[in-house]
Formats: sequence, C-alpha cells, structure tokens
Amino acid sequence: MSVLPYETLPKEADSVGILFRGADRDGPAPEMPYIGTRIDQVWADNIAELVEKAKRRQWNASVDIPWAAGRGVPPVLEEALADVLTWMLQLEYAAWYVPAKFIPRIHPAYTEVGLFLSTQVMDEARHVEVFLKRLYLNGVGLRTASSTTESSVKGLVFQDDFARASFLLHVLGEGTFKDLFHLLIEIAPDEATREIMVRSLEDEARHVAYGVGRLRRQLSAAGDPDRVGETFVEALESRLSFTYEVSGIPLHVQDALAVLAGGGREGPALDRGRRRIREFTDELNRNRLRRLLEAGFSPKLAGQIAELHIRSAGGLM
Ligand SMILES: [Fe+2]
Ligand SMILES: [Fe+2]
Repeated sequence: MSVLPYETLPKEADSVGILFRGADRDGPAPEMPYIGTRIDQVWADNIAELVEKAKRRQWNASVDIPWAAGRGVPPVLEEALADVLTWMLQLEYAAWYVPAKFIPRIHPAYTEVGLFLSTQVMDEARHVEVFLKRLYLNGVGLRTASSTTESSVKGLVFQDDFARASFLLHVLGEGTFKDLFHLLIEIAPDEATREIMVRSLEDEARHVAYGVGRLRRQLSAAGDPDRVGETFVEALESRLSFTYEVSGIPLHVQDALAVLAGGGREGPALDRGRRRIREFTDELNRNRLRRLLEAGFSPKLAGQIAELHIRSAGGLM
C-alpha cells in the first residue's frame, strides 16, 4: 500500500493529541503546541509521491561516490571548490535543522508532511556528510567561514512560522541551490564532485517540489492570493540577510565559482569563468521568477519579490 487514507484528511485539526487522523478517543486528548494545524499551511498535493520517490532514491555518501576519482585535482581548483563547499555547507546546516525542528510541531493528522520532512532531514544530513568528506578528501578542509552567512542562516533557523520558513527555505534557498547544483555539474573539477552534485540535485529537486506544491496550495486556498503573498514579502523583508545570502551569492563564492568555471585563477581562463558566472546569476534571477509564477503568485507580486532579491543582491555582488 503506498497511500494512506485521505477520507479523514481535515482542513483544520484541533491542536490536541498525538495520533494520525480519524482516531476515536476514550477521553479528551491532551493539548499540544502544534503550529501546523491547517491543511493550507502544510500540505502539498504531490506529497505522497514525493515521499515514495525520496525513499527509493536514498544514497550513501560513503560508498556511492567514486571517491578515488576526486584525487589529484590541481591545488587552485581544489581551493576554489573548498571555498564554494564551505559556504554551501553553512546553508546545508540550515536545510537540515529547519525541517527537523518543525516535524514535532506539525499535527499528525498530516503525517505525510512529517514523513516527507524526515526524508529531507536524512537528505540534508547526507549533504553535510558528503560535502565534508569532499572537503577533506585532498587535505584542504574547511575554508574561512563567513560570519555574515552564519547570521543569515541563524535568521532562517529561528523563523517560527512554518509557511514562511518553508517559503524561504524550500522555494527561495533551495531553488538557488538547485540551480547551483546544475552549474556545479557543469564546472566540477573531478568526477567525484560531479557525482555528488548529480545526486544532491535530485534530492534538492524534491525539496523544491514540496515547497512550490505547498505554496501553490496555500495561495490557491486563499481567496486573494496576493494578500497571502504579501506576508511572504514581509518575511523576506524581515529576513533580508537571508534573502541576500541566497539571491546574490556572496562575492568570494562567485569568485571561486569563476575559477572553477574558467579552469584557472588568472588571464583568459578567469575572464571566461567570470563571464559564465555572470550568465549564471541572470539564470538564477529568471528561474526564481519562474518558480514564483508557477506557485501561483500574480506577475505583479512575483515581480516585486524577484525585484527585492535583485535589489538586495546588488549589495553583495
Ligand atoms: Fe541540501
Ligand atoms: Fe535541500
């Protein structure tokens, strides 16, 4: 059996009890501090399918990556890769902690959401593991961490509204990461790294699919999608540093990406790399707008959110 019964799926659940939907009780259920108690806050129509896909496509960071193929990368490229991975790791931690914190806060009437977030917790733990293993493979290890990035990540981790956190993480943050994985497949300096990016991209695509599916449901349930949408603009404005982080990509990371894309740190190689990264940041902006429209934002509001990103990105690029 791949699907749980839907007949009892409630539009709203009382914030009581610790059991799947549809149970009879022999007495009053205990009150619980749930925050996800409405279907339009947590559900996505593709949720059951995403859970099945996630289970089928789990992989193992120790044995599924051709680690030997990651040896012997020229130091310039190895260091540039380490700069990129150190930054990405900081965001991977956020992607790991955020779903973990919300699992016990979502009413078990929506157990499928908890199942999905649990697969995400495992996926992100694996991303952290595989990035660390790649960082230490050739002895370079972690590069200097950006404290700005750490503060941005903290802003997301302490976002207590699930819908807002999901919008920031699944739609915006992981949307950017999905594009970044595509780029890294293209510019990876070795086959071990390429395989890491191919596999991580597939995981990331599920996380974005949940976020966009959840948002679409929330916006379509609201009589006036733009009114609900406005609350996301507020979330972005109150978490501007996170907005900056995932839209602009910090300058030192862009520099490292350019080294990887061009294949060197100077001359025509670097010029070529820089051109590629400029194109990439345009792709990021286009894809962000497309995702917002796909989720059901009006062109006006989608444009406003995208504009906020580009404006904020200007501060960092
Ligand atoms: Fe991830
Ligand atoms: Fe993710």
